[in-house]
Amino acid sequence: MNDSSTLSIPDSYDQISDTLGTAELILDDAVENAKTLFHTLVLSSHDEDKIVSRVVVLREFNSKERYLRFHTDARAPKIKHFKKNSNASLLGYDPALKIQLKLQGSVDVHFNDDVTKLSWNESTTRSKKCYSVEGGSSLKIENPSEYDLKDGNIEDGYLNFAVLKFKYTSLEFLYLKSSGHRRAIHSWNEGLVSNWLVP
Ligand SMILES: Cc1cc2nc3c(=O)[nH]c(=O)nc-3n(C[C@H](O)[C@H](O)[C@H](O)COP(=O)(O)O)c2cc1C
Repeated sequence: MNDSSTLSIPDSYDQISDTLGTAELILDDAVENAKTLFHTLVLSSHDEDKIVSRVVVLREFNSKERYLRFHTDARAPKIKHFKKNSNASLLGYDPALKIQLKLQGSVDVHFNDDVTKLSWNESTTRSKKCYSVEGGSSLKIENPSEYDLKDGNIEDGYLNFAVLKFKYTSLEFLYLKSSGHRRAIHSWNEGLVSNWLVP
């Protein structure tokens, strides 16, 4: 077992199914565990011919339905990116685990629907407060202090709240360890197909 984390995962990988099992355990744990770097993942979108990446907090992982949920400001540029081209990739690495996860898939944007209502209701007051900021995410401004979060009706922020559901079709696992690197790709088309890759 890996001793640099409280997560009970193998120290070596000989069965390819274990690489998927570990990836799912890591993402499951990362929803609540803010100490793992997998709690904050890098999500990339297309902006015309550019690729744009940003860090987002993992809010939910569903291995059965193969999606991860993120919260964002409905006025953020990435919303337009995903509406135009839903293709996306997700990347995470935690040196404590020596594991990198790379997921390919697509993002569905949710705004003022059952998904956003549920997500908003389970958000903390601190998280909700971010969505009350005037002007919206990424507006060019002269004086940032004018945009510091103020006390007001936190619930008004719901109108600026969006949920990104990232549904993945492949998951790549990379474990870098001197005793033997392991890299595996898991893809879902009709069913699951798993292959080892040269690390
Ligand atoms: C630690 C950390 C956590 C963040 N979490 C989120 C998040 O959950 N959702 C989000 O939209 N932006 C989050 N951000 C800000 C984004 O990285 C990004 O700057 C912002 O969403 C604007 O992105 P965009 O211009 O690509 O739309 C986070 C940034 C950091 C550094």
